[in-house]
Amino acid sequence: MNIVLFGPPGAGKGTQGDNLVKEFNLFKISTGDLLRYEIKKDTDLGKKIKSIMDSGELVSDDTINSLIEKFLSQKKHYNSLVFDGYPRNIGQAEELDILLKKYKQKISCVLSLKVNNESATKRILGRQICTKCGLTFNKFFNVSKKENHNCGLKYLITRSDDNEKVIKNRFATYTKETLPILNYYQNQKILYEIDGMGEIGSIYKEIREIIHSLET
Ligand code: AP5
Ligand code: MG
Repeated sequence: MNIVLFGPPGAGKGTQGDNLVKEFNLFKISTGDLLRYEIKKDTDLGKKIKSIMDSGELVSDDTINSLIEKFLSQKKHYNSLVFDGYPRNIGQAEELDILLKKYKQKISCVLSLKVNNESATKRILGRQICTKCGLTFNKFFNVSKKENHNCGLKYLITRSDDNEKVIKNRFATYTKETLPILNYYQNQKILYEIDGMGEIGSIYKEIREIIHSLET
């Protein structure tokens, strides 16, 4: 099955996506992670992308759509993708439907994680990412320690867009560009709303129940 994880910055898309990958043997496509990978390569495109991401705006649809087709076209990922942070506007949602049709696939569900801006901001300001293993932790809610993380504290970094100024614009962009997609998927009857304010484990429990209900 293909799953779309939807929600504002800090909703827990990446966190819950990692849980789904582990349990259901899926492959996660985070457009944010793919863009950060491009930035790391320090190409001209990477430099352009960095300045857009650090402003909290959206990277162009052309850039994003070309990244997505690479994965959708691969047989090994057939019907086993989790989209994290994509699609991000109506144009991308429409393009995804065209690509899914081309590769004879569909979206099984769109899981929309609801969180308020205040909590999401606190989560974002506490986020730490391990540059060695790629796992995400949180200074306030999910502290990296020996029991859950072997790499050690020296690999933990903060994303350059995880500061109050950029967060404000990321929320504004989300409200203006991304929220209208909910109607698009509501009309397709594949939208599931989830309370994203609880603990990571209890939110995941709700997600699993939805997935299992789709499988039967
Ligand atoms: P992207 O990387 O996708 O960022 P985002 O959408 O702003 O979302 P985040 O990654 O901040 O949040 P998340 O929902 O993944 O939360 P997480 O699980 O990490 O995009 C970044 C930028 O790239 C965009 O601004 C744009 O410029 C560009 N971009 C990306 N995709 C694009 C596209 N398709 N088109 C155009 N441009 C695009 O959790 C956050 C923190 O909270 C973590 O520390 C986690 O441990 C913690 N946490 C998670 N769940 C809980 C919980 N339930 N309780 C307490 N803490 C929790
Ligand atoms: Mg994320």
